[in-house]
Amino acid sequence: MKKSQENQLMDAITSLCKRRGFIFPGSEIYGGLANTWDYGPLGVELKNNIKQEWWKRFVTMRDDMVGLDSSLLMNTKVWENSGHLSNFSDYLIECKNNKCHNRIRIDEMLSPEELSHFQGSINQIFTTVDFNTKTPLTAEIALDKIKIIHKEMQDLFNKKYKCAECGEKNWSTPAQFNLMLKTSLGAVEGSSIVYFRPETAQGIFINFKNIVDTSRKKLPFGVGQIGKAFRNEITPGNFIFRTREFEQMEIEYFIPEPKTNADWQGHFEAWRGEMHEWIKSLGIKSDEIHELEVPAEELAHYSKKTIDFEYEFPFGRKELYGLAYRTDFDLKNHGLDYTDQEGNKFVPHVIEPSLGVERTVLAVLLSAYAEEVDGDSPDGVASETRVVLKLPAKLAPFKIAVFPLLKNKPELVAAAEEIYHTLKRSWNCDFDDSGNVGKRYRRHDEIGTPYCITVDFDTLENGDVTVRDRDTMKQERIKITDLQNYFSEKI
Ligand code: GAP
Repeated sequence: MKKSQENQLMDAITSLCKRRGFIFPGSEIYGGLANTWDYGPLGVELKNNIKQEWWKRFVTMRDDMVGLDSSLLMNTKVWENSGHLSNFSDYLIECKNNKCHNRIRIDEMLSPEELSHFQGSINQIFTTVDFNTKTPLTAEIALDKIKIIHKEMQDLFNKKYKCAECGEKNWSTPAQFNLMLKTSLGAVEGSSIVYFRPETAQGIFINFKNIVDTSRKKLPFGVGQIGKAFRNEITPGNFIFRTREFEQMEIEYFIPEPKTNADWQGHFEAWRGEMHEWIKSLGIKSDEIHELEVPAEELAHYSKKTIDFEYEFPFGRKELYGLAYRTDFDLKNHGLDYTDQEGNKFVPHVIEPSLGVERTVLAVLLSAYAEEVDGDSPDGVASETRVVLKLPAKLAPFKIAVFPLLKNKPELVAAAEEIYHTLKRSWNCDFDDSGNVGKRYRRHDEIGTPYCITVDFDTLENGDVTVRDRDTMKQERIKITDLQNYFSEKI
């Protein structure tokens, strides 16, 4: 896709989201707060539908899963032991121009070869040095070596990369920047620093014993959780793609201690398949998804293998979801274990499918968005460009819209209202009587309503209505008494 087309598509989606009440810029009446977004009446329905479908598919419909809703704020020891305090950071570099001070993430500028060279060199130092016992390399020598690598990075930047804001090549030495957001609890400022969770996963790990003791689940089993996570991202942006506050839908799937690689790989492959099925169920085409095995030197500190599921966003191919083999890293570091029915005590290993809610919303909207020049459209509406969100019915904010043909005919309005109130008990429906029916169709196409019902004078005679399908625009007459069954089969 050309740059202008990419921008056009993102502009079309952001403007539709604002105009129709899906997503608003955060704190708008006070001039906004960059990279924060509020979900409006339709956006919250879409988001909730995604979360409900995920919960049903991966928690309530499976025998080997349970759910959890843990705290956002946790004891700081959680983050010490999970490795997030020491490792959960991005490298950033800052433009030294006094008027600029633009900060960027190093990994977003360097070529893959450069990145892997620097990451590989630094990882090697971290794996060979023990900073506590000072063997086999002393911490001091290690830090000197890291400083040399930082200088090499700075020189490369000053030689090769201009600042995108001011155009200068005047970069600082790189620094690590921890991504966890801090706050303090209690009345005295700074008396008790705590962190907002940067992943929902740790809430699951630290409740492992509670869940085993109360749920009677035996390995292998998983715990699913949906909730907010916070990261002080250096470069948020691309609408809702990267924000500092977002939601995750995560599963920690606990398996017995593997004796061979095949033991964990089997579970990993099963979850890989499940993730593809989930993506398909969202209406995202499989050729828009690409798997990327994360190179060893770029793996998160807890992972032995990670596959990123990348989606072709208009601004590039980027991570939608991740699937990681976290080994026994987390439970071991939290001092937790498991005793099987034979009395064997061991630390379970973990496969983790991790999904972002907002990235799902964005990918779903991008996949569903279409502009069609409809010519002689089957629903008889005059030719013009039709904007339509071809959302899977399960995800659509409204499933059905009910229209009286004319709003000034009380008998039509009364019949339409009765149908609306009856169907509303089962599905989220909209009642729309403003403008002509063609305009109402187009309004509902744009927000993805899969079915529109029109109540006309024949309805009063024959007890049937016109049901119009969003995607085919075809219309059929259905008896009012059959509507419940008709939609139960379709939605
Ligand atoms: N527990 C593992 C974990 O958190 P991650 O790859 O850092 O792994 C998982 O995050 C998913 O969370 C990503 O694939 C993405 O969908 C979502 N995500 C991560 N950071 C995000 C951000 N700043 N804004 C929106 N979504 C984000």
